[in-house]
Amino acid sequence: SGAGVLRADLTGRRVVVSAGGTREPLDPVRYLGNRSSGRQGFALARVAAARGAEVTLVAANVDLPAPFGVRVVPVGTAEELRAAVLAEAGSGGGVTADVVVMAAAVADFRPATVAATKLKKKDDPSEVPVVSLVRNPDVLAELVTKRAPGQLVVGFAAETGDEAGDVLAHARAKLARKGCDLLVVNDVSGGGVFGRPDNAAVVLAADGSATEVPHGTKDAVAAGVWQTVLPRLA
Ligand code: CTP
Ligand code: CA
Repeated sequence: SGAGVLRADLTGRRVVVSAGGTREPLDPVRYLGNRSSGRQGFALARVAAARGAEVTLVAANVDLPAPFGVRVVPVGTAEELRAAVLAEAGSGGGVTADVVVMAAAVADFRPATVAATKLKKKDDPSEVPVVSLVRNPDVLAELVTKRAPGQLVVGFAAETGDEAGDVLAHARAKLARKGCDLLVVNDVSGGGVFGRPDNAAVVLAADGSATEVPHGTKDAVAAGVWQTVLPRLA
């Protein structure tokens, strides 16, 4: 199946993809957010649908058109994303997805309290507010513990190397910690991927294998990720 050949190798598969970045409100007008554009997640959903899958895209604050043939469930916060992803994955019972891909950037923390009214400055310029944070649930870890038999769970990780280890060392540790089947790793050391149309990745598997997905458009990277997922589907 080379270039230009229509593939329907995901026909009959139920796929859930999360994309974008969660926003955690501070007050009615402000939030803590991140730079995820949702492009890679949208590409994964678009390519899966084009290859015959029944795709639900849980989209956190994404300003992109819905991919053709994809059902989009919009969410805002990590808690909303958690509820939507677990429901669509079938983690609470009902119809289960064959594969769940967590491409969304989920906020690790949220403000401990959300002000009901807009936060105002004080007259004294030295008086600044202190924002207390609490941990958000880890949706990927919860998917792993609640998954249906045979359901494949795919995580994403944007990593940089540091004094503790290189990108792949951090990624392998994360894969082990999260317990998912596959981890799609982006090297963000150069700072280049956010909001850009192109990408590259390495897909690490729980069995120890590493598959390189060469640099290309986010659709091309999505196709490479599905190529790695495909032989692992039940
Ligand atoms: N993830 C999640 N829920 C969270 C945080 C992350 O489901 N609260 C998912 C992301 O969607 C991604 C994977 O976990 O698929 C890895 O996210 P990442 O932020 O790299 O992992 P963390 O465990 O949060 O580690 P770090 O401290 O490096 O941020
Ligand atoms: Ca994180």
